[in-house]
Amino acid sequence: MEITSTDLGLAARVQQLTKTYGTGEGAVHALEGVSVGIRRGEFTAIMGPSGSGKSTLMHIMAGLDAPTSGRAWIGDTDITGLSDLELTILRRRRVGFVFQSFNLVPTLDAIGNILLPFDLDGRRPSTLERARIDGLVETLGLTSRLRHRPHELSGGQQQRVAIARALATAPDLVFADEPTGNLDSRSGREVLALLAAASREHGQSIAMVTHDPIAASHADRVLFLGDGRIVADKPRQSADEISSWMLASELHDTKTAAVTS
Ligand SMILES: Nc1ncnc2c1ncn2[C@@H]1O[C@H](COP(=O)(O)OP(=O)(O)OP(=O)(O)O)[C@@H](O)[C@H]1O
Ligand SMILES: [Mg+2]
Repeated sequence: MEITSTDLGLAARVQQLTKTYGTGEGAVHALEGVSVGIRRGEFTAIMGPSGSGKSTLMHIMAGLDAPTSGRAWIGDTDITGLSDLELTILRRRRVGFVFQSFNLVPTLDAIGNILLPFDLDGRRPSTLERARIDGLVETLGLTSRLRHRPHELSGGQQQRVAIARALATAPDLVFADEPTGNLDSRSGREVLALLAAASREHGQSIAMVTHDPIAASHADRVLFLGDGRIVADKPRQSADEISSWMLASELHDTKTAAVTS
C-alpha cells in the first residue's frame, strides 16, 4: 500500500518500516518493510504467529520504540523526527497503550495507576473525565479493587486496570496488545465491547493485537502479519473465516518449512 504524508483518513501510519534487533549472525529481522495505516475511527485487529512482529509494530507506531529504517506518523506528525520530549508529550496527549505485560506501577494502587496519565500531564480529571473513569471502573468490574496494588490483583484484574488507564483520557489512538489474553470469556467480551464502542461511538482509532479469532471478529478490519511482513489485510471477518485463514496460513508455513529444511 502506498502511504502518503497527507492522508488525513489515517490516525497512524508507517512506511517501509524495518526493525532489526542485534547485529551480525544473531540479528533478528522483526519487521521487514511494513507499510500500513490505521484508519481513523476504525477498530483494527492485528493477528499473526508468535514472533511475527506484532508487538514491535505497535510499539513503533505508538512512538515507544524507534525503527531501524522507515518512517512513522501519528496523525500528520512524523514521529521519527521528534525528540524524546516531544514524543513523550504527543504520546501522553493522544495515545493510550495496553502492554502485553500491563506495565502497571507497582507502588501505586489501581486508581493511582488509572489516573497516572493525568498526573504525568500535571492535571486533574475534569468532571466529565471523572464520570468516564467511574464508568470504565464499573464496566471493568474494578470498583472493589481500586485501593489494591498490582501485586494484590489477579492477572486479569491487572489487565483490566491497564485497559482503564489506556482509555481514561479518551485518546484519539489506542494500541492494545492482547488486551483479552488473561480474561475469562465474560470479561473478555466486555473489554471488546468497550473497544468497539470507543471506535463506533467516540470515533477513537483502535489497534488490537489478538490471537483469538472471536476477539478479532469484533474488529472492522483484520491485518495478518507473518515473518515481519503484512501478509493479508481484510475487512471485517467472522470468527470462522479468521480461523480458516489462520489454519490455511499455518499449513502453508509448515509446507514451506518442510520444503526448505
Ligand atoms: N528486545 C529484543 N531483542 C531481540 N529480539 C527481539 C526483541 N524484541 C523482540 N524481538 C524479536 O523480534 C521478533 C518479533 O517480536 P514481537 O515481540 O514483535 O513478536 P509478536 O508478534 O508480538 O509475538 P507474540 O505473539 O509472541 O507476542 C521475535 O523474533 C522476537 O524474538
Ligand atoms: Mg507480542
